[in-house]
Amino acid sequence: MASIFQFAPMIVMQQSGRQKLQRRPEPEEVTDQADHVVQYDRVMGTKLAIAYASGLEVVHRARPEGMARETIDLACGPGHYTLCLARHLGFDRVVGVDLSAPMVEVANQNASEQGLGDRVTFRVGDATHVDGMETGRLELASFTDAAHHMPDLATVTRVLKEMDRMTKPEGLVMVMDLVRLRTEALTERYVNTLGHDYVQRGLPSFFKDFHNSMYAAWTAKELRQAVPRDTSRHWCHIVPRGLPTVQFLLGLPVGRRKVFVRSGLPWKPEACPVPREMRGEWRMLRMTIALASRKLIPPGTGTGV
Ligand SMILES: C[S@@+](CC[C@H](N)C(=O)[O-])C[C@H]1O[C@@H](n2cnc3c(N)ncnc32)[C@H](O)[C@@H]1O
Repeated sequence: MASIFQFAPMIVMQQSGRQKLQRRPEPEEVTDQADHVVQYDRVMGTKLAIAYASGLEVVHRARPEGMARETIDLACGPGHYTLCLARHLGFDRVVGVDLSAPMVEVANQNASEQGLGDRVTFRVGDATHVDGMETGRLELASFTDAAHHMPDLATVTRVLKEMDRMTKPEGLVMVMDLVRLRTEALTERYVNTLGHDYVQRGLPSFFKDFHNSMYAAWTAKELRQAVPRDTSRHWCHIVPRGLPTVQFLLGLPVGRRKVFVRSGLPWKPEACPVPREMRGEWRMLRMTIALASRKLIPPGTGTGV
């Protein structure tokens, strides 16, 4: 298990100067190579399950009372986070969309194997323009670990606008993604600390994806610039202090500025999606999110066009 002693020097490295590492876009925007799809499908046994648990908790804490009907998850990959929205947050009807046909095929298999095929369906589609989804229909639109797959910030803005469009005024928009760190040396150190586990589990392509993702990720300052100007929502950007390894952008229900309206998910140990041996790291991330900086971006003040 990665410990505070491994992270402490990285916090110092992250905090000691300006951003030097330039972005390197993903070599492949769409993930459809067989070994990458097969290995990504094993995500629930990896540390990404910790990020998923954080994503679920952030949605739960921010969603209005009783909001559990219809949702979409964009760039859903093999659909494990999408399926969690039905299993752990109780959404009745969930649609997952990804541009990769092999990912969608695996995701549909996962839904039926988990007995959720009647509530969760997956289809091929583009996150920047979701065909056949009417305006203001959904209670939640989510986009996790995929903003860094977009070629530029203007495309991220297009996705955010599409999410905003499909979501009811009283609904919630949720983006979660990695954060590009300050230097190449720090990034290598972080990737090797966390990714060691992926290699040990026999997931070299997943490790390679993680490595590429950390170079393609947006810094907190960059992602914030993608918030659309033309929106009726307040947006909140949540960034852990110290060593930010995950960031969230929430498009709040129209008229609301308060970010969280309830406390965390009361997970019973047997229901928690994080593998037992990673629960210590999950508690650590949970705490850093609770203490994270929250920047409110009022309607009309975003810079994304
Ligand atoms: C790193 S995976 C994230 C999967 C999942 N959301 C998660 O949290 O694990 C990024 C996914 O984005 C998909 N993707 C890339 N560009 C896309 C687009 N324009 N529309 C839909 N999916 C896209 C890729 O095919 C890939 O499955």
